[in-house]
Amino acid sequence: MKQFRVGIVGCGEAAQILHLPSLYQLADQFAVTALCDVSPVVMGGVGDHWQVPKRFADYHELVQQDDVDVVLIANPNAYHADVTLAAVEAGKHVLVEKPMCITLREADAIIAARQKANVVVQVGYMRRYAPAFVRACELVRQMEKICLARVHDVIGHNALIIEPTSRVIRGTDIPKDVLAEASAIQNRLIVEAIGDAPAPIKSAYSLLLGLSSHDISAMRELLGMPNGVLYAAQRQGGLYLSAAFDYGSYVCQFETGVDDLPRFDASLEVYGSDQVLRVVYDTPYVRNLPIRLVVTRANEHGVTEQHEHPSWGDAFLIEWQAFYDNIVNHQDPKTSAEDFRQDLVLFQQMIERMR
Ligand SMILES: NC(=O)c1ccc[n+]([C@@H]2O[C@H](COP(=O)([O-])OP(=O)(O)OC[C@H]3O[C@@H](n4cnc5c(N)ncnc54)[C@H](O)[C@@H]3O)[C@@H](O)[C@H]2O)c1
Repeated sequence: MKQFRVGIVGCGEAAQILHLPSLYQLADQFAVTALCDVSPVVMGGVGDHWQVPKRFADYHELVQQDDVDVVLIANPNAYHADVTLAAVEAGKHVLVEKPMCITLREADAIIAARQKANVVVQVGYMRRYAPAFVRACELVRQMEKICLARVHDVIGHNALIIEPTSRVIRGTDIPKDVLAEASAIQNRLIVEAIGDAPAPIKSAYSLLLGLSSHDISAMRELLGMPNGVLYAAQRQGGLYLSAAFDYGSYVCQFETGVDDLPRFDASLEVYGSDQVLRVVYDTPYVRNLPIRLVVTRANEHGVTEQHEHPSWGDAFLIEWQAFYDNIVNHQDPKTSAEDFRQDLVLFQQMIERMR
């Protein structure tokens, strides 16, 4: 079995809690050989703990290393497109955390560069690799009729769950101007994507790129691309969103928000005339929590509710295994750059409706 050497750009919460433990578990397939972070405290602490030999402050250096075959991109969203392009142009396979990028221009540049370099670019939508979700997709394809669907994602701030459950080495040493640069780039790219807009609309677009990208992309795999957006609205400064997607013979309701309750309430529901499917997600920050499929069906005298948890194994682990298979078999991931572009198209339609 070939072992791929991984370089990680951005070694914060996601890398420390979600990716490094998954890669450690998959040691036959992956070995982390290089890290990049703008914080020496983070890079030193993470590098020492996981015994990673090479460390760089600049991602341009990391992507040029001969002992890096694949690059995980988990730094702030503002840089995802630039790092993806640099890695692809250096001939590396890329697993890029969501969002892959912020603008359609960046998406098109990544799609073109990937085709030229003939490498794998996979977007980190781990929820779509969960066996319960894959099983739900199979069952939806067999449904004779869909009458209604619902995508719901209301969660507490990540810190409410991370603080009591993990130790994260944080970049307390990052200069203020470096932090300011990331938010200035993010703001500039959002204006490029949606035009100048009031602050709540920009916040809504950030939420779509962040948490909601999981929901909307899963909705697309489960139900296909909708015909359009019937309505979309933001409230509470863009921290709460509601929308309805037009699927012709049915409507998919979408609702999301972030509050102060330390819980994770995320699900996808599909209503047929005689059965209801529900995929239920839990927080990714506590590893290996089951992702369940609940099927409610009519029986002779009442209803049967069946709870399935098709396998153990964290969704991030399965995402990395799929990435491995995609590289070895030269196949396009289902969460490809082209697939991500469709999310951007929908986000822009939703923003238009909000306006
Ligand atoms: N798939 C998921 O469920 C999931 C969950 C959490 C985060 N994420 C994604 O992962 C990414 C990182 O999120 P996070 O929560 O770990 O953030 P974080 O702020 O904890 O970590 C980001 C790290 O990147 C470093 N960094 C900043 N600028 C950099 C640069 N120019 N080059 C290299 N390193 C740089 C920071 O010092 C920090 O250590 C985001 O894109 C986020 O959307 C995905």
